[in-house]
Amino acid sequence: MEKTGNFAFGDFDKRDGMTPGQVAEVFTNAAGTYDEVWGSRNYRDHIYIAEGVADYFQADVRDSVRILDVGAGTGMLAEQLWPRGFRQIDGLDPSTGMMTEAMKKRVYTDYYLEFMDGHTITQLDTDSYNCLVAAAAFNTGLVPCAALLEITRLVKPGGLICFGIPDARFTDVKEYINRLEPLMQQMEEDGLWQLLDKKHYDDFYDNANPGNVFRYIVRASNVDVKQYVETLCQSC
Ligand SMILES: C[S@@+](CC[C@H](N)C(=O)[O-])C[C@H]1O[C@@H](n2cnc3c(N)ncnc32)[C@H](O)[C@@H]1O
Repeated sequence: MEKTGNFAFGDFDKRDGMTPGQVAEVFTNAAGTYDEVWGSRNYRDHIYIAEGVADYFQADVRDSVRILDVGAGTGMLAEQLWPRGFRQIDGLDPSTGMMTEAMKKRVYTDYYLEFMDGHTITQLDTDSYNCLVAAAAFNTGLVPCAALLEITRLVKPGGLICFGIPDARFTDVKEYINRLEPLMQQMEEDGLWQLLDKKHYDDFYDNANPGNVFRYIVRASNVDVKQYVETLCQSC
């Protein structure tokens, strides 16, 4: 049998049909070599996100900006945020192995072993953060569409949500096809968030894999997720 850790580095579609717990295990099995492998492949999504966040918050306030890093993994994004002056960063990820690697780096205050999948994460209050980031968290078996609503709940109105998505994910990942982009737009029409900008890059990894870094400003975070999803589904 193929080692499941390999599915953290390629053959992402082989995670299709896995349970969330199995996907977390894929990353636990890959955690020990994760930074080395992606570093050698010129992974850059996290760098572009850190630049987008630093561009939004002025240097003199950065050390008091509360940030949640969703799909935090081994902390590669937080490692990019520290040199830019950000200090109050929490991580969230369901993989114990990834958490173990991340905590060695001392870049996170708290690290929540949780799935971001649309359920209410009860230990995190509404409006807890000024900013939420997610690097390489949108792919097969990772963060589902419904997670966007819980993501919005956690950020104060006026706060920033910044995440990267390679273009191909919108057409290759079953969960996102004809769903993710319409949901992002619907949330804007419904006044939940507003697109500040999206910046296109040619090289998220392997010196290829073009994609966008999206920056949204939260407008309303007191969303009744269950009711919102039910209303959306009526029009599906
Ligand atoms: C491709 S890695 C990216 C890690 C890190 N953000 C980086 O840039 O290196 C994706 C991470 O998402 C985590 N993950 C999987 N499903 C998730 C979910 N539903 N909510 C949050 N994180 C999830 C995995 O455990 C893994 O650590």
